[in-house]
Amino acid sequence: MPSIAPSMLSADFLNLGKDVQMVNANADIFHLDIMDGIFVPNISYGFPVVDAVASMAEKPLDVHLMITDPAKYVRRFSSSGAAMLSFHYEAAGENMGEIVDLVRSCGMKAGVAINPDIPVSVLFPYLPKVDFVLIMSVFAGFGGQKFIPETYGRITSVKAETERLGLDVKIEVDGGVSPSNAAALAAAGADILVAGSAVFKAADPAAVIAAMRGDYV
Ligand code: DX5
Ligand code: ZN
Repeated sequence: MPSIAPSMLSADFLNLGKDVQMVNANADIFHLDIMDGIFVPNISYGFPVVDAVASMAEKPLDVHLMITDPAKYVRRFSSSGAAMLSFHYEAAGENMGEIVDLVRSCGMKAGVAINPDIPVSVLFPYLPKVDFVLIMSVFAGFGGQKFIPETYGRITSVKAETERLGLDVKIEVDGGVSPSNAAALAAAGADILVAGSAVFKAADPAAVIAAMRGDYV
């Protein structure tokens, strides 16, 4: 059964407390998207919002950095209470290993994120060092985009490599995830499903979360 991580990018910021309580009551993880307007064309939100969510969150915070200089902000997000932190392979370049070490030295789970146009095999050398891989199933930058079906093969490829190496690296999938593809993503090997618009634009977010988990009540 996959863990469900609602992306707060699609939350109602005028009623954030209500959406935080909904996640506390129904989901597993808070997914927090940080965009700098440089690495991706969009700007999301920053520390005041993350700290506000943290003050009421009863589930772990998963920070997804879509910024050009991830190392610069790792400690700051750790002090905000992040339990998991991912940054993009495309932003880190040759500093990948160093940043993973920094994230872990702050006591957080370290994840590396990758956009749909980069072969997942570039991550294989780092699998022994990371706690999770974030496979983007849309191009990072905006909520509400259409799921890219090639993601299934990318998940199975990362899953096969982690199994070959005997590692327990979790696979997180982000972008266009909804009850219509959740079961197939879990079957392909996804452990954590991120969903923004499918959850927060729904009339009954709790039912959408349950459906994505595979609880059909
Ligand atoms: C996109 C973000 C996602 C986004 C997902 O760059 O990383 O987390 O909020 O939104 P949906 O589920 O609407 O595609
Ligand atoms: Zn995200």
